[in-house]
Amino acid sequence: MGGVGFAISGRRGDDPTQYPGKLTWYVVMTLMAAAMGGLIFGYDIGISGGVTSMAPFLEKFFPSVYHNQMDDTSTNQYCKFDSQILTLFTSSLYLAALVASFFASTMTKKFGRRKSMMFGGLIFLVGAIINAAAVHISMLIIGRVLLGIGVGFANQSVPLYLSEMSPYNYRGTFNVCFQLMITIGILVANLFNYFFAKIEGGWGWRLSLGLAGVPAIIIIISSFFLSDTPNSLVDRGREEEAKTLLKRIRGVENIDAEFNDILAARNDARLVQNPWQNILTSRCYRPQLVMSILIPFFQQLTGINVIMFYAPVLFKTIGFGSDASLMAAVITGVINVLATCVSIGFADRWGRRTLFLEGGVQMLIFQIAVAALIGAKFGVTGDVTELPKWFAIVVVICICFYVAGFAWSWGPLGWLYPSEIFSLEIRSAGQSVNVAVNMFFTFLVAQVFLGMLCTMKFGLFIFFAFFVVLMTLFCYFFMPETKNIPIEEMTRVWRDHWFWKRFMDEPVTGANEMTRIEQV
Ligand code: BGC
Repeated sequence: MGGVGFAISGRRGDDPTQYPGKLTWYVVMTLMAAAMGGLIFGYDIGISGGVTSMAPFLEKFFPSVYHNQMDDTSTNQYCKFDSQILTLFTSSLYLAALVASFFASTMTKKFGRRKSMMFGGLIFLVGAIINAAAVHISMLIIGRVLLGIGVGFANQSVPLYLSEMSPYNYRGTFNVCFQLMITIGILVANLFNYFFAKIEGGWGWRLSLGLAGVPAIIIIISSFFLSDTPNSLVDRGREEEAKTLLKRIRGVENIDAEFNDILAARNDARLVQNPWQNILTSRCYRPQLVMSILIPFFQQLTGINVIMFYAPVLFKTIGFGSDASLMAAVITGVINVLATCVSIGFADRWGRRTLFLEGGVQMLIFQIAVAALIGAKFGVTGDVTELPKWFAIVVVICICFYVAGFAWSWGPLGWLYPSEIFSLEIRSAGQSVNVAVNMFFTFLVAQVFLGMLCTMKFGLFIFFAFFVVLMTLFCYFFMPETKNIPIEEMTRVWRDHWFWKRFMDEPVTGANEMTRIEQV
């Protein structure tokens, strides 16, 4: 087959530093507005843990859980909070997001990235209103499902939008802003929970849930002003508009090199009738498919959402009072935001691999430290009533280092890397696989964590540490560097890679042989 096949034709295939252009204000503003899409996801991650620990909320919607917690006199700290119904409330959103991401794929491809974002924001807004007004558990669930649909659409379209719109040498910086918005969403939600839990009359949870509408409104309004990406415009046959837009966002008249690459990518894409069939069956997409599954899988198996969803519960488990637990969750939230900024500065300078590898080693060290500390104090029985203050402080410090390691590696890069590696013809489908796998494992971790803590005890942290070792090795051997490579030229990283190159000399299934040969 040697070299036949458009997906491997490499387009211009030479020096990527040929695209002229500068960083324009227009593109900066556009990208910042689009990154707001991360807020709704983050707000949701941060809000549910706190709301489900508010007594009035539990009493109203989950009376049996509430009474069980009230009557519980056991001192086994590991099993105190294990309740499947409650975790289902948290995790149901991610199932809805999983399903929605597949519909989002078609919408994002057919109608553009911008419409998907707008739609995601609208549905999310309706979900937030229903949740805030909930008088019955069915309203809560319908609200959660709508929020999930919103998250599915936003997470599918925003990272793609950012990666296509950014100048290639700033792609890391801008894409990481999506993660920055996620972390800000989490932090704001934690702070709101902290204050709203204190509201007299016990209706603070309505504010916590309802204020999710604010980031949704921000997204809806910003997407009115956003233009679509040049890649998506070309894909939908609007070449002239795409040219004008490219000139505007790159701030130069000479955009031919970039425009021609996008055109070539679109022509390749037109030969592909069914992106789903192709991504699943063509060997030349195997590296991209493997990444779209393993990256979100590994991202969730770092165990980060144990901290994000259950930090207050976890801190209560190690002996903090209610208020101190919520405060400690706020502290980890601040570290999460600050450490993400490191990635904004360095993803395009040091490259993705350096951050992935350093972050992996850092997470590993501090996960083992947390396991050792908790193991030493709680043993396997978990029967502890009194803990020294220094102990709690050391655990919080270790957790902060662990969160920082995640926040400049797998957090942002878990969204950036998949969004930049797919060829145009499978980009939308590939991103849906990424979102769906991410949501599935977010759901799973949210759903089983409290049960696992009860059975695996401190060993749970070793369990996650094991996956951190695996993912760091995977990154070392199998993840090629993508910094500074234009998005429509990405196939070259697979062709040049010691392992993946063996998949790159096969044509795409279902493409017309003659057209393919003409392409090369
Ligand atoms: C992950 C979330 C996680 C968040 C923490 C994101 O990249 O996808 O699952 O809660 O980072 O900051």
